[in-house]
Amino acid sequence: MLPEKANIIEVGARDGLQNETTVTLSDKVDLINQLSLSGLKHIEAGSFVSPKWVPQMADSAQVFSQINQQPGVIYSALTPNMAGVERAIESGVKQIAVFGSASETFSQKNINCSIAESLNRFDPVIDLAKQHGIPVRGYLSCTMVCPYEGPVSPAQTALIANTLFEMGCYEISLGDTVGKGTPNRVIMMLDTLLKQLPKDVLAVHFHDTYGQALANIYQALLMGINTIDSAVAGLGGCPYAQGASGNVATEDVLYLCENLGIETGVDLNLINQAGWQICQALGKKPISKVALALGDPNNH
Ligand code: HMG
Ligand code: MG
Repeated sequence: MLPEKANIIEVGARDGLQNETTVTLSDKVDLINQLSLSGLKHIEAGSFVSPKWVPQMADSAQVFSQINQQPGVIYSALTPNMAGVERAIESGVKQIAVFGSASETFSQKNINCSIAESLNRFDPVIDLAKQHGIPVRGYLSCTMVCPYEGPVSPAQTALIANTLFEMGCYEISLGDTVGKGTPNRVIMMLDTLLKQLPKDVLAVHFHDTYGQALANIYQALLMGINTIDSAVAGLGGCPYAQGASGNVATEDVLYLCENLGIETGVDLNLINQAGWQICQALGKKPISKVALALGDPNNH
C-alpha cells in the first residue's frame, strides 16, 4: 500500500551543485531562496568538506550567512569530520549529515578512509552535534551497487545502516550513488533493512544515471518508505563516483507523487521555475523530463 504523504528532501543545492564548476555564490543563494518558498521543509544547502577535495562547496559558510532562512524549513549541510562540524556550528547550521559508504573502495575514494575509520570519525562529530542540539542525518552510499566493486550485498548495507542508526543518526538515507539499482535490488535491500530498522527512519537517495530512479522510488514507496531525496532539475552527482549523473529530479518525484495521490506539500510549478533558473545560470537545460514537458515558465 502506498503512503498518504511523502517528505521531500531537496539536495540540489548540495549534491547538484557540488559537481558544477561555474556556479556563483549569488546563484546558489537565489536558488535556495526560491526553493525555500516552494513548500519544501528540508533543503540541503551545502557541505563543510575539504575545499581541496570539493572546491565547489568552499563557499558554504557564505551561503548559510546569505540565504533567507524561512521558519519551518530545515537547512542542512554535510560534515565529514570534526573540522566540518565545527565550521557548520560556527555558520549557525541547525542540522548536519555524516556520510559513509557500504563499499570499502568508495569510502576510500570519497572520504579517504576505510568504513571502520569513517565510523570512528563520525562518533565525535555526532557527539558534538548532540551537545549543540543539532540532529544528525546519516547517508550511506553504494547501498546496492558500488562504481568500483559492483553489487553490494543487502547484509553489508544493513550492517552499516544499523551502525549509523545506533550511533545516533535519526535517519539513514540510502544512496544509489551511481544509479545502477533496479526495483528487484531495492526489494532485496529493503527486505533486509526493514527486519532491523523501522521504515520511518529510512530515506531513499537515488541517482538516475540509468533512468531507474523513479521505478526504484515507486518500489520503495510500496514498501512504506516515504522520505525521498531529490534534486531540482535533476542536477547532481558525486565527484568521486565515476560516471554518476544527477539525482532523481524533484519535479519528476512531485509529478509521480501528485498523480499517485501522495501529498508532499511542495508546489511543482515553483520548483520547475527554480530549476529552469539555475539551469540558465549553468548554461544548460534541466535533465528532469517533467521540467522539459512543462517548459520554462520564465520565458512566458
Ligand atoms: P583527507 O585529505 O584525508 O583529510 O580528506 P585531512 O584531514 O588530511 O585534510 C586535508 C586538508 O583538508 C587539510 O588542509 C585540512 O585542514 C583540510 P591542509 O592542512 O592540507 O591545508 N580539511 C578541511 N577543510 C575544511 N573543512 C573540512 C576539512 N577537512 C579537512 N571539513 C576528507 C578527508 C573527509 C576531509 C576529504 O576526503 C573530503 O572532504 N571528502 C569529501 C568528499 C565529498 O564531499 N564528496 C561528495 C559528497 S558525498 C556524496 O555526494 C554522496 C551522497 O550524495 C550520497 C550518495 O549519493 O550516495 C551523500
Ligand atoms: Mg548523492
